[in-house]
Amino acid sequence: MDNIQVKDKSFSLFISAEEIDQAVSEVAAHIAQDLRGKNPLFIVVLNGAYMFAADLIRKFDFDCEISFVRLSSYAGMETTSKVREVIGLYENLTDREVVVIEDIIDTGISMAFFLDKIRETNVKSVRLGTLLFKPDAFRKNYHIDYVGIKIPNEFIVGYGLDYDGLGRNYPDIYKIVE
Ligand code: IMP
Ligand code: MG
Repeated sequence: MDNIQVKDKSFSLFISAEEIDQAVSEVAAHIAQDLRGKNPLFIVVLNGAYMFAADLIRKFDFDCEISFVRLSSYAGMETTSKVREVIGLYENLTDREVVVIEDIIDTGISMAFFLDKIRETNVKSVRLGTLLFKPDAFRKNYHIDYVGIKIPNEFIVGYGLDYDGLGRNYPDIYKIVE
């Protein structure tokens, strides 16, 4: 499919499932290099990162654990600078090597908040992995350890990413047609 309609917006094919899989493999290889044998704990940020996390984590052939949280600060197409709260962080992070898994880092504000929360614990290390990164939108300065694909500052859907809850189901990524 080259074009899709989600609610009132049209989107055109931007990143194919094959290109996504290539990027996921590269991220997986880097994570494996750093954390094989260390039983990393992946903390997946719902809802957007569910598809990326499922594809990424099944590429590992060593012990690792997975947990899920929600931050939910995004309504429609505008990032609201207010992150409400972290829901679902019940794991004991003491001495754990944590990798936070995001679908996309846009302004970076919601992740800044979450990284601060994790660093308040006795975690051994915190790394950050994201499938997509919008460098031109980024308003923070923390390090992102693993980036799949850098993209321009445009609104996208598919592969877990949504527009008002819709569009997450597509295996490819689409960008908005202005
Ligand atoms: P940030 O706090 O601005 O970095 O926003 C991060 C969150 O906003 C991501 O985890 C996504 O859920 C959502 N988001 C950012 N950009 C897009 C986009 O282009 N399409 C869909 N969701 C997005
Ligand atoms: Mg997200």
